[in-house]
This record gives sequence, C-alpha cells and structure tokens, in this order.
Amino acid sequence: MKLALASFVVAVAFVLPFATTALPGDLKSTKGGCKLLYVPSEQVVVEKMLEMAKIKKTDVVFDLGCGDGRIVVTAAKKFGCKGIGIDYDPDRVKDSLKTMEKFGVTKDLVEIREGDALEVKDLERATVIMLYMLPEFMEKLEPQMKKRLKPGTRIVAHDYPFPNMDPDQTVEFDTGGVRPKYLYMWTIREPKKK
Ligand SMILES: C[S@@+](CC[C@H](N)C(=O)[O-])C[C@H]1O[C@@H](n2cnc3c(N)ncnc32)[C@H](O)[C@@H]1O
Repeated sequence: MKLALASFVVAVAFVLPFATTALPGDLKSTKGGCKLLYVPSEQVVVEKMLEMAKIKKTDVVFDLGCGDGRIVVTAAKKFGCKGIGIDYDPDRVKDSLKTMEKFGVTKDLVEIREGDALEVKDLERATVIMLYMLPEFMEKLEPQMKKRLKPGTRIVAHDYPFPNMDPDQTVEFDTGGVRPKYLYMWTIREPKKK
C-alpha cells in the first residue's frame, strides 16, 4: 500500500511540471505493470546525456523507453553511431519513425522496436544505455545491468537513478525550468577477480 502511494506521488511529481492531460490513474501500463508515462527529455538534456556518455562512432546506443526517438536519432546524426530505441506504446513508435524521417536518419543506423524494454533479447550489444524512466522501471531493470552488460558500457539516466547502484557521476543541470534536472552516469566495471 505504502509502495503504491509512493509510486503515485512520484508519478504525479513527474506529470505535473509538464501539465499533461493524463493523470497517473488514467495511464496505460505494460503487462509487467510499468506505467506508460510519456514526458520527453528537452533537447538540451538529450545533448547533455550524450555528452556525459562520451559517445563515439563505434557505439551502440539503446534508449529503453524511447518516446519520440530523439535520443537515438540525435546520437546517430551527431556521431554516426548506431541507435536502438524501444517503446511499448505503438504511438511512441510512430513518433520515433517520424523523428527518423524528419532528421533523415535511415534504418541502417537507427532501429525502432515496439516491445517491453525490460525484455530486450540483445541488450548485451549495448555500449551505451539511455534512460528516462520511472523508479518502478529502474528498480526492475537494475539486476540486468551488472549481469548482462559488457565492462565499459555507460548508462545515463535522467532524473531517476537505480535504487542500489551508486552513480560514478551526478550532474545537476539547470534548464531554466521550474526545477533543476539530475543526470546520473554509471560505467560497468570488470568483475572483481576472486
Ligand atoms: C518519460 S518517457 C522518456 C522518453 C525518451 N526516452 C526521452 O527521454 O525523451 C518514457 C517512455 O517509456 C515508455 N515505457 C515505459 N515503460 C516501458 C516499458 N516497460 N517498455 C518499453 N517502453 C516503456 C513510455 O511509453 C514512454 O514513451
């Protein structure tokens, strides 16, 4: 009960600054119970996230919950790297395909998939992971990070960190909005030798 209330409060805090018409109770959910709340990262935040990840041409950037696809499209356009965006909501998949078209980014660089971002078959391919997801999703995803990702993979999260992994870098970023943004970065390390 306490957890449900906490999730509701977080979701309201997430929604209100953007004055969307959807209230948390109205939101669609995935089969696994993740709320499909769509709040796009502002472009300045997207650019800052890419800068923190130190993207290069050889990177494979995944955006788990890709919304309108601007993160992977911007990365591909700016750095020539590969991008894979995954969203559960078919409307967001359509938005992402429109973003690709608008920026002239082709399918050989960016792939957009409809599906559950907690069940990505080839997550091991990622060298960078971008996230702007609610705490409930971050908690569910966290066990996959150390288990599945290669050493050297960078993860950048907007506003909500993993509950149990201490970030290597935290940036407070003022976009001129009602509150500063917090960005978190982790690098997957080699497992400790026994
Ligand atoms: C806050 S938006 C972030 C969009 C984009 N990454 C950005 O930063 O602009 C979160 C997105 O995640 C999607 N989403 C939420 N849970 C998901 C899940 N389990 N699998 C795939 N997509 C999910 C929502 O549909 C929504 O588009």
